[in-house]
Amino acid sequence: KSTILTGIKPTGQVHLGNYIGAIKPALELAKMQTHQHAYFVADYHSLTKIHHAEELRHLSYGIAATWLALGLDPEKVIFYRQSDVPEVFELNWILACFASKGLMNRAHAYKAIVDQNRQLDKDIDSGVNMGIFTYPILMAADILMFQTDIVPVGKDQVQHVEIARDIADSFNRTYGDTFKLPEYKIQEETAVLPGLDGRKMSKSYNNTIPLFVEPKKLQKLINKIKTDSTPPEEPKDPNQSVLFSIYKEFATPLEIEKMREQYVSGISWGEAKKQLFQVMNRFLEEPREKYNELMASPEKLDEILKRGVEKARAVSKPFLKEIKCKLGMNV
Ligand code: TYM
Repeated sequence: KSTILTGIKPTGQVHLGNYIGAIKPALELAKMQTHQHAYFVADYHSLTKIHHAEELRHLSYGIAATWLALGLDPEKVIFYRQSDVPEVFELNWILACFASKGLMNRAHAYKAIVDQNRQLDKDIDSGVNMGIFTYPILMAADILMFQTDIVPVGKDQVQHVEIARDIADSFNRTYGDTFKLPEYKIQEETAVLPGLDGRKMSKSYNNTIPLFVEPKKLQKLINKIKTDSTPPEEPKDPNQSVLFSIYKEFATPLEIEKMREQYVSGISWGEAKKQLFQVMNRFLEEPREKYNELMASPEKLDEILKRGVEKARAVSKPFLKEIKCKLGMNV
């Protein structure tokens, strides 16, 4: 069976970009029974930033509850917490020995910090721990451990999937065919969903719309989405509007067509925002309630994740053994 895998790291509240860029497509793909699915909470990846136990625990539960509230069926997929699968970290070291330092130097997230440090006239590696630097290797371990074929992600993760391919290829050339070469899958139109200020929606820019905020707050945040100064009655291009691209993710085909016409004939941004809120809130009402319920019973989440990790390790243990055997280790 071929595998579809993706993870979310608990560094903040899950936001609309995570949902539209990765969770929604992953849940759509999860309907394909011809594939194996592995969806997880990337808590070790958060450790590059979050150094507070209670916060990390809470945020990790938040990711798990989000997946479940949005309809992930833990019986049908492998659903787990990354830090519960020790084989991933053994593989992390193995892969590190096949990843050139130059490859890491070129990774976008690391480079962005270096560039910023340069601009501020700081030491180029200021604020960079080795977790940040080797982040793509751990991500390669996540992906390669499960012989992943497809990784549904937003655009910011594409390079990481390519790095995983490079590392897998380098290993395979030395030890023969071992790892499948993964491919990324992005949603063309919403691969980079802009945030409130027009930059990429991101926890680190503080410009997000968290998915499960209360309705009033949701309306407030939608009202903050940046729009241009086209007067209310003038025609607007729906294909250039973030409001419209978010609307499309939550509305029915008929509603989408109607809204498209409204844009062309002239709709005020205020009205477009109001209607966006309505379709979003209609969809989110139920998952929000389920999310709040799950967050109130972490023991239930632990139970589900515990069952998930058994399924994950049923794959990772024998595969790691096979890999170590190839390397010449006694197993
Ligand atoms: P993370 O937690 O930053 O984001 C989770 C997913 O959401 C996507 N995303 C977006 N998509 C569209 N527009 C946006 N503004 C936007 N912001 C975030 C991300 O691309 C991602 O798909 N390194 C990963 C977690 C990870 C992982 C993995 C993913 C760890 N191991 C293995 C796939 C496979 C991350 O930090 O995602």
